[in-house]
Amino acid sequence: MQKIVVDRPGSYEQLRLVTAPDPKPGPGEVRVRVAAIGVNYADCIVRMGLYASAKEYVGWPITPGFEASGVIDALGEGVDSVQLGDEVVALTRFGGYASALVVPVHQVFAIPPKLSLVQAAALPSIFLTAYFALFELAHPRPGSSLLVHSAAGGVGSSLVQLGKIAGCRVIGVVGAAHKVAAVTELGADGIIDKSSEPLWPAAERFSPGGYDVICDANGVETLGKSYDHLAPTGKLLIYGFHTMLPRQGGRAKWLKLAIAYLRTPRFNPLELTQKNRSVMGFNLSYLFDRADILGEGMSRILGFAESGEIVCPKVTTYELAAVADAHRALESAQTVGKLVLTTKRWR
Ligand SMILES: NC(=O)c1ccc[n+]([C@@H]2O[C@H](COP(=O)([O-])OP(=O)(O)OC[C@H]3O[C@@H](n4cnc5c(N)ncnc54)[C@H](OP(=O)(O)O)[C@@H]3O)[C@@H](O)[C@H]2O)c1
Repeated sequence: MQKIVVDRPGSYEQLRLVTAPDPKPGPGEVRVRVAAIGVNYADCIVRMGLYASAKEYVGWPITPGFEASGVIDALGEGVDSVQLGDEVVALTRFGGYASALVVPVHQVFAIPPKLSLVQAAALPSIFLTAYFALFELAHPRPGSSLLVHSAAGGVGSSLVQLGKIAGCRVIGVVGAAHKVAAVTELGADGIIDKSSEPLWPAAERFSPGGYDVICDANGVETLGKSYDHLAPTGKLLIYGFHTMLPRQGGRAKWLKLAIAYLRTPRFNPLELTQKNRSVMGFNLSYLFDRADILGEGMSRILGFAESGEIVCPKVTTYELAAVADAHRALESAQTVGKLVLTTKRWR
């Protein structure tokens, strides 16, 4: 099998394609012969050496990757809920950038007939993130106003769609004009292109009383203003900090990081109670022992995909060996939708 290995933190040159023996499934595990692998912004942070759970669970060297689709080609002892030849999508806490992947059987899910292997690999992380934010934490009511930052990206596209399923009035924010059409197609009720108009006056025009839910993975650039724009009983969902990181070069800039860290707002519990606001944060990579939450989320997401209630966002594919190009593109902040790596099995 082939896999991408990162030996030490750094830029794109650290993404090394290596050949290795096929992994063997242990009891309760299955091996997936991988066709397609989802790329997440988190993988770039792993490569830069800044992803806390990667250091905690794996260390160096590391193979990034949270999700892959393919065909089951080996079963560990005691596995009887799936069969050889089943097409599945797998969740994995790292290790996903590989042409063969071993995971516990409860982390594989049957692919609905409507989805291709590439689309199946695109959905899990972004939709589980949106699902956890909206359906486990925020619980918006029909008619709630929802502001989604980076609405044309992977998680953003998923938040827009799940927000519509929850009955929200969804306002999407994008950072470039070429992203507007994608967010319109996903059903957003309003779009703010912050490259062509100031973000917050436009956000106030769309929802003068503030927002019931704001989903923010920008971090320092918008977090304070996102909090200021919550309506009473409003909830701020924090799940990333990408404005701390560089858009080119692929290497963390320590001074910028330190300044951004110091400038990141801290929220006052006394004020939260007086203003009836909530601030919530989460990271899916710490939720892998919650098979109940991940399993329920995956079955609802795949059900929505099968019924046509959600669509796979636009996918751009790269060969596994061209993973550096995918990282470079994602970090540029210019991509729309989701990036997926394909293996030789797919081509
Ligand atoms: N906590 C969790 O469990 C969890 C799970 C999945 C993802 N995430 C986080 O969710 C965010 C989105 O992830 P994704 O994989 O779906 O990526 P993405 O949204 O497809 O791409 C990132 C987008 O962020 C915006 N951005 C703003 N400043 C940026 C910068 N300095 N560098 C790069 N992008 C910048 C850009 O959109 P605009 O310019 O249009 O805003 C860019 O297109 C990331 O912060 C990621 O770490 C968290």
